[in-house]
Amino acid sequence: MILRGGTLVLETKTVHGDIRIANGKIAEISPALLPETGEDVIDCTGLLVMPGLIDMHVHLREPGFERKEDIASGAAAAVKGGFTQICCMPNTKPVVDNKVVVTYIKARAREVGLCKIHPIGAITEGQEGKTLSAIGAMKQAGAVALSEDGKSVASAGLMANAMMYAADFGLKCLCHCEDASLVDGGVVHEGYYATLTGLKGSIRAAEDLVIAREICLAESLDLPVHICHVSTYSGVQLIREAKARGVKVTAETCPHYFTLTDEAIKDFDPMTKVNPPLREERDRLAIVEGLKDGTIDCIVSDHAPHHADDKNVEYNYAAFGISGLETSFALSNALVKAGALDYCGLVRRMSANPAKILFLEGGKIEEGAAADLTVADPDEVWTVDPAAFVSKGKNTPFAGREVCGKIKYTIVDGEIKYREDGR
Ligand code: DOR
Repeated sequence: MILRGGTLVLETKTVHGDIRIANGKIAEISPALLPETGEDVIDCTGLLVMPGLIDMHVHLREPGFERKEDIASGAAAAVKGGFTQICCMPNTKPVVDNKVVVTYIKARAREVGLCKIHPIGAITEGQEGKTLSAIGAMKQAGAVALSEDGKSVASAGLMANAMMYAADFGLKCLCHCEDASLVDGGVVHEGYYATLTGLKGSIRAAEDLVIAREICLAESLDLPVHICHVSTYSGVQLIREAKARGVKVTAETCPHYFTLTDEAIKDFDPMTKVNPPLREERDRLAIVEGLKDGTIDCIVSDHAPHHADDKNVEYNYAAFGISGLETSFALSNALVKAGALDYCGLVRRMSANPAKILFLEGGKIEEGAAADLTVADPDEVWTVDPAAFVSKGKNTPFAGREVCGKIKYTIVDGEIKYREDGR
C-alpha cells in the first residue's frame, strides 16, 4: 500500500511525501513513490499522516461493566478516534490487580484485533489502598504501568513502596491525584459556579496536595512518577518547578481541561461532571501554557464511558466521566488552530511522548517501524453527535459543538482498521 501525497508529521518537521507500507512495516518514505503492480494507493492529498496516536488513559470497562463499554466497542471508538494504541485503566470488576485479568484483557484485545491495547494494573489489591497488588506477575503478563485510577493511594508510605516495587519491575506509577478528605463529596470545582448552582465544590488543593506528595516521593526516592489528568494552574506550576529541579516527573491532561471551564456546569448538565472537575479560565489557560512549554507531556482522553442510566440523573447522583476517544483529536487540533502547538508538538503529546513514558514502540514515522499511522484531515469541520459515537458511552459535554479535524484512516501494523468512508 502507498499513502500518497500527504503531509508527514515527523519528529521535528513536516514534509510532503509518500509512504510505502509492506509486511506491516513502513518500508519506504520518499518524496514520490511509483506503485508496484497490485499495490493499493491511498490519496492523502491535503491530509496529515501522523504516527499512530496513543492514548495512555482510557477506560474500557471490561470485565464487569460491559453495559458502559467493552473491549470491542472501546477499541472501535479508539480506531475511529485515530488511536492505534491505548492503555486501559484497572477500575474494572474484578479490578486488574493480578495476572489473570491482565491476560484476559490482552487475549480479548487480540480477538477484537483493532488497535493495540495495553493493560494498566492497580497499585493495590482491589484498589483498596491496603496491600500492594501482584506487580511482578502483572508486568510479566503484559501490564505496562500501575495506577490506582479514580483515586489516590491514601498512605504515602504505601505509595513510596509502590514506586520502589514498580521501578524494580521497570514500571511507572500513573497517579490520579486526589485527597479524599478534601474532596469530601464535592462534585464540581469550588468557585463561582459551585456557589451559583449550590453544587458542592472541591478546592484545587485536593488535587495539588497529592501532586506535591508524588513529586516529593519521586524526588526523595529518585524514581519516576507520572501525574494523571492535571486540571489546576497550581498543579501545572508544581510540575514545572519539579521538572526544573530535575525530578523525574511527567504529566498528562485531557481535552476537556483545555477546552471548557466550570461555567459549563451552570445548567446542571451531568455530562460536565468529571473527576477532577472542570476548573476556571485561569486553570484552562495554565494548562494550555503547560502543554506549550512541555510541562505537560501528553494529551489523553481519560475516556470514561457511562451508560445513559448512570448519567441521566440529578447532578449529584451522576457518574463522573466523559466519553472522549472520538473527540480527542479534534479538540486537541484546536490547539494547533489557535497557534499554541504545531503539528510536531501535537503529535509529540498524542503519540511520541506516551510511547516514551511507557516504553511502547511507536510514536515515530521511520523506515522499518511498525506501520501504525493515523491519517486525518486537519481542516474538516464537523459537529459532535454522540448518537454517532461507536463507543457505548454517549456521555459528552461537547454534543452539538462544531470542531475541526477529522480522522480518515487508522492503520495498525499496515492494516486499515478504520476508514471514514467505511469501504
Ligand atoms: O471522571 C472520571 N471518571 N475520572 C476518573 O478518574 C475515573 C473515571 C471513570 O472511571 O469513570
